[in-house]
Amino acid sequence: MAIDPLPPHAGRLLLGLTGGVAAYKAAELARLLVQDGMDVQAVMTESARHFVGTATLQALTGKPVFTDLWDPGAAGGMAHIELSRGVDAILVAPASADFIAKLAHGFAGDLLSAVCLARDCPLLLAPAMNRQMWEHPATQRNIATLTQDGVTILGPASGAQACGETGMGRMLEAAELAGAVHAFSRPGLLHGRRVLVTAGPTYEAIDAVRGLTNLSSGKMGYAVARAAAEAGADVTLVSGPVCLPVPARVRRVGVVSALEMLAAVKAQLEDGVDIFVGVAAVADYRAASTSRRKLKKQAEGILLECVPNPDIIGYVADLPRPPFCVGFAAETENLEKNAQTKRRDKKLPLLAANLVQDAVSSDENILILFDDGGRTYLPKAPKIEQARRLIGHAAALYAKWDGGRAGG
Ligand code: PMT
Repeated sequence: MAIDPLPPHAGRLLLGLTGGVAAYKAAELARLLVQDGMDVQAVMTESARHFVGTATLQALTGKPVFTDLWDPGAAGGMAHIELSRGVDAILVAPASADFIAKLAHGFAGDLLSAVCLARDCPLLLAPAMNRQMWEHPATQRNIATLTQDGVTILGPASGAQACGETGMGRMLEAAELAGAVHAFSRPGLLHGRRVLVTAGPTYEAIDAVRGLTNLSSGKMGYAVARAAAEAGADVTLVSGPVCLPVPARVRRVGVVSALEMLAAVKAQLEDGVDIFVGVAAVADYRAASTSRRKLKKQAEGILLECVPNPDIIGYVADLPRPPFCVGFAAETENLEKNAQTKRRDKKLPLLAANLVQDAVSSDENILILFDDGGRTYLPKAPKIEQARRLIGHAAALYAKWDGGRAGG
């Protein structure tokens, strides 16, 4: 199968490393970000170089690593200005107690602190230190000052520390930091747009205790909602019955049945929706009649009469002025053929297809995206990464589609 390229990734990040054992996690972070297409420029303090070599970061980012305020190669001898321009965000990981203190007081005696002071983009810090250093009132005062100055503090987490103690002060894991970076590096992608996502299964009651449902865990839909929120959209998630934490900056509307899901979607459409993503595994049928009481067991068995549920995404896509609709298809076989048929029948500009055996309830999946331009293969990755790629792809198509619609 031909592997089509992913849409270009707009993110440009300056990754700062200060002295701390957690610097090794920054190397993994650089690897993850570069793998996702991000342009990463590393800057290291003198102390950071005791923990990880510049050669490692250079190999992972594919760029020379800057360490010196007086770098003769920088334009006009001003590396701190040059480096802080044109990046979408600066992340310092690990941020030591000493470096945090410097920033809180506006010191700029080394390249990284000077870059941070000269910046005109968001600054994110991932503190990493011994628990007593973290809890010290001086550190807490510095963190409060930086927070007031608009700096975003990511973590720290609690757990075993390199010094042998246990408590708050561990740097967040590389994957968690990579997720946070995406939110700051491409915040404008869907800024000002309303995105509606359906997720999870529906449950169609038969009687007081029994019902028809499926194995959807909601993980993919919740990841899509999170990725859309990271991209700056105003996101509502209409969710079937699952127990997942609601992603930050996402409004959740809980529903049980397909009819309830349709009603919730209709209510959201009244407030205007730009992009609708139907990830939910909506039950195709519901019982023709339901009993409020528990039905008694019949020795001879029962015949259950079912009626079809409304097709939610079909309804939305058929509106006179529909939002940009993104459908999903989970198939056990003939994935591409069935997905193409679904996209055509439901009149969807974009459809993401996955194999049931690979996708349902799992943390990772393979996705194939189908649109008018052909297909894009997204190799196996955690659902949040797939969701970010899908949202990036959908945002690019939406911009063209919306432009075409405005032009008549
Ligand atoms: O929740 P997870 O465990 O993470 O699993 C994710 C997933 C496998 C459920 C997800 O990735 C996925 O593929 N969702 C679509 C499931 C499916 O096969 O849907 P479908 O073929 O029944 O429907 C196709 C499209 O129509 C979907 O966008 C669906 O939301 C929509 N639909 C279907 C039926 C219906 N009555 N109303 C709808 O809106």
